Amino acid sequence: MMTDLILGQVLSYSADPFAEGLSAARVLTHGAIAVEAGRIAAVGEAADLRARYPMARVHDHGSRLVSAGFIDAHVHYPQTAIIASWGKRLIDWLNTYTFPEEMRFSDPAYAAEIANRYLGLVLARGTTTVCSYATIHPASVDAIFTAAQARGMRLFAGKTCMDRNAPQGLRDTPQSAYDDSKALLEKWHGQDRLSYVITPRFSPTSTPEQLAALGALWREYPDCLMQTHLSEQTDEIAWVRDLYPQSRDYLDTYEAQGLLREGAVYGHAIHLTDRERARLVEAGASLVHCPTSNTFIGSGLFDMQLAAQLRVGLATDTGGGSNFSMLPTMAAAYEVAQLRGQSLHPAQLWWLATQGSARALHCDDKIGNLAPGMEADLIVIDLASTPAIEQATRRATDLWQQLFPTIMMGDDRAIAEVWVGGKRLAA
Ligand code: GUN
Ligand code: ZN
Repeated sequence: MMTDLILGQVLSYSADPFAEGLSAARVLTHGAIAVEAGRIAAVGEAADLRARYPMARVHDHGSRLVSAGFIDAHVHYPQTAIIASWGKRLIDWLNTYTFPEEMRFSDPAYAAEIANRYLGLVLARGTTTVCSYATIHPASVDAIFTAAQARGMRLFAGKTCMDRNAPQGLRDTPQSAYDDSKALLEKWHGQDRLSYVITPRFSPTSTPEQLAALGALWREYPDCLMQTHLSEQTDEIAWVRDLYPQSRDYLDTYEAQGLLREGAVYGHAIHLTDRERARLVEAGASLVHCPTSNTFIGSGLFDMQLAAQLRVGLATDTGGGSNFSMLPTMAAAYEVAQLRGQSLHPAQLWWLATQGSARALHCDDKIGNLAPGMEADLIVIDLASTPAIEQATRRATDLWQQLFPTIMMGDDRAIAEVWVGGKRLAA
């Protein structure tokens, strides 16, 4: 069997740094990863693994960083072409930019074009897995899964369901949302590295009947994830209050229809009441922090203290977010936490973008860390990828000081190599 040995500074985690502190991170300054048949066979000192695998093909990266690939836990791949659209807040932004663009996905050829463009952009930025919303069109789900399958990627996606408050042409019904979601789930879930995610867009664009139909579907397929949006912007929350007068709060609109339990993944979750927090923790739900989106669309500052209590992943929220890369997303997470009086450590930021997101998506037994048996999705980071970053790292005395300028100022130039399922992508 062919073995690849990837040498560099190897960063992995033995625990959650939000719970265990810095000792959760493990740095091997002269480390190595052995990759065989798409999986990590061993992680250790370079000298030891060279001796153990004398016939291996060696990729020596010197002092570059070797890490698990980034996992972007909440994206809308159909919004690729409208990223960085000016001047609107959430509801106007959806109506002005998002919905007209999502209409174009009634054309399967356009869906395939954008799916391929999107995966090319994120892989070049070191993101090896995403969890994406598609559009209401089943062909938009086929497009992203087909594109991911061709690249051997682990990828999560689902048909976005909406049966009200969206333009004609972007609405389904409770029954068609159930039927189409079920057919797509049966077609794709568990094929190669693909997972179907039940995806009501958010309470304002679904009737209670549609949420109930998707709750029923989730009961039939309990091992699937369910993703939606929660408490992103105050105007949105006021609208939910008008649309659901019987509900105690925003979370209750989901809870009442069987859409709250472990495996629920809520994007944003910024403006939570005490009851919502307590129920989210009790239910074991996942939250996804989308910091560039939350500043770009003007939504608010996520409370990272929640990471001590429940699963929190990190995401770009493409195209509400302003960047395809997880590096500026980590930088924004740092800045948002600073505005709330908390300084996130580089070990915590990096963990959020890898294992934190994997845990939020319940796939941390497969991806998001470097350990024997894990799938070999990994990236090699150049820690001096621009003159500005290089000069800022010159006095660094440990990996964290070396890494932080790349987190704050890095972009696709920092991504030296990307491996997906044990195969190196062509540069
Ligand atoms: N809430 C409902 N749909 C969306 C969306 O597409 N993007 C963001 N940021 N929030 C949403
Ligand atoms: Zn979103």
